[in-house]
Amino acid sequence: MSHASRSVKTVFIKTYGCQMNERDSDAVAAMLCNRGYALADSERDADVILLNTCSVRDLAEQKALGKMGLLTRMKRRRPGLVLGFMGCMAQRLGPQLLERVPKADLVVGTQKLHRIPDHLDRLLANGRHPVTDVADEAGSENAICGHVAPQARPTAFVSIMQGCDMQCSFCIVPATRGTERSRSIDDILAEVRALVACGVKEVTLLGQIVTSYGRGQMPIVHGNSPFVQLLEAVNSVPGLERIRFMSAHPQGFRDDLIHCYGRLDKLCEHVHLPVQSGSDRILRAMRRTYTLDPYRRIVEKLRARVPDIAVSTDIIVGFPGETDADFAASVKLCKEMEYDNVFLFKYSNRSGTPAAALPGQLPAEEIVRRHHQLWKLTETHAAHRSSALVGRVLPVLAEGEPETKKVEGRLFGRTRCNRLVYFPGDASQRGQTLDIRITRAKPHTLYGEPDLPSAGH
Ligand code: 5AD
Repeated sequence: MSHASRSVKTVFIKTYGCQMNERDSDAVAAMLCNRGYALADSERDADVILLNTCSVRDLAEQKALGKMGLLTRMKRRRPGLVLGFMGCMAQRLGPQLLERVPKADLVVGTQKLHRIPDHLDRLLANGRHPVTDVADEAGSENAICGHVAPQARPTAFVSIMQGCDMQCSFCIVPATRGTERSRSIDDILAEVRALVACGVKEVTLLGQIVTSYGRGQMPIVHGNSPFVQLLEAVNSVPGLERIRFMSAHPQGFRDDLIHCYGRLDKLCEHVHLPVQSGSDRILRAMRRTYTLDPYRRIVEKLRARVPDIAVSTDIIVGFPGETDADFAASVKLCKEMEYDNVFLFKYSNRSGTPAAALPGQLPAEEIVRRHHQLWKLTETHAAHRSSALVGRVLPVLAEGEPETKKVEGRLFGRTRCNRLVYFPGDASQRGQTLDIRITRAKPHTLYGEPDLPSAGH
């Protein structure tokens, strides 16, 4: 055996899509490190390249397929290179992916990510026998939860559940992530405590529908849902400073959860609550299981409890059958809510979802037009909400030096209301919560200076 083939094999993981995918990539990286692999800094010098894929919109799938096309060409010069798809598109397409990209070696679905080290060991030892592994696996939600060197970052994602039992007519997630399966409060607490011991100060509890956490598996106690019980437990972890979560569903956002704001000191003043449309007619066609009145009441109650709370949402434009009046209702809702941030999505037809076969699919140009119009409006709201923070002194958790927009002596962090802040500082301050006076605002970014106590007088 040559020296080169005995040396440590390196892996590069490129991640598409949501925070859950970022966390899954982190877990896979941790498992591979435990198995003796090293993480490559770039795809250029990796022995293995994995694409962690997203299926929510067609565009995300096309991006990953295009990338894999480029990578397979690199194989001509690097014949030993192992290439794999993991995550949602791998789950959705399974063996079809190997038919489309015969030079890929590995397709691993969302419930089999913890098998990746075994598959890579085998592929690297035996060479070319492409592997597809996309079956369901009971308990996988407990197996995919490691972290790579969390001490490098003061913030961490913690997966509390997998899957979603809702049947939103546009959404591919039930097909890619399976049915709802929640981890136990004790397991999650152990993970959070271990992260805190490594220097983590902020956790984001992740699930496709966190408001359904533990539903049917754990009892309601004193009127508190299992998710609220989980928040209370995490809030009591010493050394932890901040808690966030995503994503919630309006249907499960009841008073017990609303009352956590202002009551649990670590729960940050930001809520991401996807509404999807401002038209009741479209919400019904989307099978969202709520109407706008109760949604509005949730936001009103939250703002009454915590006047500065930041509210963000997801909105889809161009759902099949969306008339000018339906679209105008989404515009009206945005004006009324003045969101801190709106993630706007152009409707993307996902085959196999109930909405895929609906009449009234809109032309792409019209979807683009509506998207642009609403985007311009929501940017003015974001700018307004941001500039209202100028002059305030806000606690900012210093996360580190920005990877892009790197400037000597500049750090970035987030406010509790989830605004990104740049400010002067040095790497030794990473993990500290600093008082920052906000001096300048862009729609999604703030700039500030450390607020030093004045020297006497
Ligand atoms: N087309 C466009 N956007 C979608 N989303 C989910 N499915 C689709 C689709 N088929 C959006 C929703 C969801 C967010 C994560 O992605 O707004 O909340």
